[in-house]
Amino acid sequence: MRRKLVAGNWKMHGSLAANQRLLEAVREACGEPGGAECVVCVPFPYLAQAASVLGGTPVAWGGQNVSEHDSGAYTGEVSGAMLRDFGCRYAIVGHSERRSLYGERDSQVAAKFQAAQRAGLTPILCVGETLEERNQGATEEVVGRQLDAVLNNAGVQAFAAAVLAYEPVWAIGTGHNATPAQAQTVHEILRARVAKRDEALAGSLSILYGGSVKPANAAELFAMPDVDGGLIGGASLVAEDFIAICSAAANA
Ligand code: 13P
Repeated sequence: MRRKLVAGNWKMHGSLAANQRLLEAVREACGEPGGAECVVCVPFPYLAQAASVLGGTPVAWGGQNVSEHDSGAYTGEVSGAMLRDFGCRYAIVGHSERRSLYGERDSQVAAKFQAAQRAGLTPILCVGETLEERNQGATEEVVGRQLDAVLNNAGVQAFAAAVLAYEPVWAIGTGHNATPAQAQTVHEILRARVAKRDEALAGSLSILYGGSVKPANAAELFAMPDVDGGLIGGASLVAEDFIAICSAAANA
């Protein structure tokens, strides 16, 4: 059975003082072995703080991005090895905000995915369509293209040590989550696409849903057979909401 996983994506939010309260609350509530796996992806400057509060507990932490390069003259970039130095187990790659605001293309996302794995990190690969693409009936084509770019570059076996996240762009930060049925449909498509290359591996791949997940809708989303947890933005900044979502995943 696939283990449920809930990852918080703090985006560019936080401060030392606010993080301390949030991390301590998450540590107290989400540290149960055997529950859902719980991860916080914090801004780079706060990785040391996450390591110091969460070290030695079952709660993992990660980066929100990673360079496709291992080292070199890349001003402002952060490598996978640097994330590992701070105890990260995960790195988000290909978030739609990186794609749309910073021009990350499918090929670059694939390179980041591989760089994360070279460093020993588990990439959380994000795919998702815009509202316009959905209205044009292009959802499958778009998420398929985004997934294939990584499958073709990294090979299907690489997904044995990766997590996939379906995040419809129209659901991110809007308060309009995909319905459980909409999420399930796309998750099933994604899993089938991986299964065409390796059926057993597809069956063990965790596919998270992200986009306006809240305590009120988490349980019904996580009850879907191909929804293995969530990638949480806004609600991951509110300790009681994030904790409630983690416990919904643990009970799903
Ligand atoms: P929200 O949960 O704020 O919609 O953000 C989702 C997201 O982008 C997580 O990566």
